[in-house]
Amino acid sequence: MDKKTFYITTPIYYPSDKLHIGHAYTTVAADSIARYKKLTGYDVYFLTGSDEHGQKIERAAKSKGETPKEYVDEIVAGFKDLWQKLDVNYDDFIRTTQERHKKTVQMIFEQLYKQGDIYKSSYEGWYCTPCETFFTQRQLVDGKCPDCGRDVELLREESYFFRMSKYADEWLEFIEKNPDFIQPDSRRNEMISFVKQGLEDLCVSRTTFDWGIRVPFDEKHVVYVWVDALTNYLSALGYGSNDDSLYQKYWPADIHLVGKDIVRFHSIIWPIMLMALKLPLPKKIVGHGWLLLKDGKMSKSKGNVVDPLVLIKKYGVDAVRYYLLRELPFAADGYYSEEALANRINIDLANDYGNLLSRTVAMVIKYQKGVLKKPGSYDPLDKELIELAQNTPKAVEKLMEKPEISASLAEIWKLVDRANKYLDETSPWALAKDETKFERLNAVLYNVLEVVRFVTVMVSPFIPNVPFKVWKQLGISDKKELHTWESLKWGELPDNTEVGKGEVLFPRIDLSSL
Ligand code: ME8
Ligand code: MG
Repeated sequence: MDKKTFYITTPIYYPSDKLHIGHAYTTVAADSIARYKKLTGYDVYFLTGSDEHGQKIERAAKSKGETPKEYVDEIVAGFKDLWQKLDVNYDDFIRTTQERHKKTVQMIFEQLYKQGDIYKSSYEGWYCTPCETFFTQRQLVDGKCPDCGRDVELLREESYFFRMSKYADEWLEFIEKNPDFIQPDSRRNEMISFVKQGLEDLCVSRTTFDWGIRVPFDEKHVVYVWVDALTNYLSALGYGSNDDSLYQKYWPADIHLVGKDIVRFHSIIWPIMLMALKLPLPKKIVGHGWLLLKDGKMSKSKGNVVDPLVLIKKYGVDAVRYYLLRELPFAADGYYSEEALANRINIDLANDYGNLLSRTVAMVIKYQKGVLKKPGSYDPLDKELIELAQNTPKAVEKLMEKPEISASLAEIWKLVDRANKYLDETSPWALAKDETKFERLNAVLYNVLEVVRFVTVMVSPFIPNVPFKVWKQLGISDKKELHTWESLKWGELPDNTEVGKGEVLFPRIDLSSL
């Protein structure tokens, strides 16, 4: 039987500057969901990319004395380098300057024009160049951009418009019938009230700059922002090209993962574009919160950004991934601080998880010559631990449906905590003093290491490197069948497992050095 498919995307980021840990969060989260889906048996396609057109890029390039293409090439190379250093395993990277993308955008634009959903009119508004957004007079704050507070300019131009208003009722009906379409629920309610206030037609072309995809039947115009950008999710699959086999296989997308800043575009404009094109809609738009600094939102235009490369170098990729994924809750914002990052490393990773493995392995070596038998029987205390171990994958599966990553990690760490407590309660170091307790001692250590195996399989989508170190210490590096989600059945850790001392999983961070 063919595997079920799963198509997940990140936003395509603007190459207006280097990326920060906010972008890293979205991409690592999408990567973790993709890895989790693969681990649980899906045929996954994971797309990321870059959104390279627009006036802002055109101007930035000019100020550096480069062509826009030279400018974006350099920055996009940096994106790819960052994703590699963060162990992001995407299947494809779409650039909106690629020919394949251009063709699809032009085809879609022309189709919408021919069927009367795109029409020509003129546009007047207050334009903020750094934000690439037009505002109405009413939206301005003290005559300045409501988003960044900078000066805006009054622009009037001939433009093409997309007849969004025509589809408002169909959209509301769709949302009614698909209550999970926008996640988390709070954002869904925001979007519904936005549409109920009345949808305006969307300006979809510009004549004031050149760096964009030409409107095929009117060369003066370039396609404006969202029609260009959103179409990447289709063009990357070869939609409308000679080979659309990926489109046939993976569309509709299962998750468009985005930040809350662009939920509106993804949950209103994009579905309406697809409705107009008579194409299936994605299954879910997930809009996570922002990673904030104490002085507000990190943003490329504000310049108060935290560079993920610096953190990876200092703390290692798994630690950075864990921190980001654990720190940002599903439906709210989270705060970044280096101290919180160091605390997560010291407490969750070094102490709770790393130490659980290292002290247990040390005891197996010291008390059992490094070899463990499969226990013949279990005590009530064991049974409680085993039950929690067996229930945790199910709890994670349920949470990852949403997908609630931080809560999934919290669930896994409940098991880690329980295993640490179990060690204290069973006190293997005391059992070791009594020769008649040799079997009990063996059982206790086996149970803990089987929990470590469960935990390590479950964390592998989120922190993909550390499992290799753990498998080595558990002596099961070659036993790939014990690294799978299906293997999360109690007692799979083999009889006569031979452990080996290994690297410390996560070195402790000296907080006074921050
Ligand atoms: O909006 N916290 O690109 P962009 C969490 N090109 N996530 C953050 C964040 C923060 N502080 N800052 C950025 C664009 N992000 C368009 C997208 S898609 C068809 C076109 C993440 O470079 C978050 O995912 O401004 C947010 O939605 C995205 O970066 C915006 O990236
Ligand atoms: Mg932005």
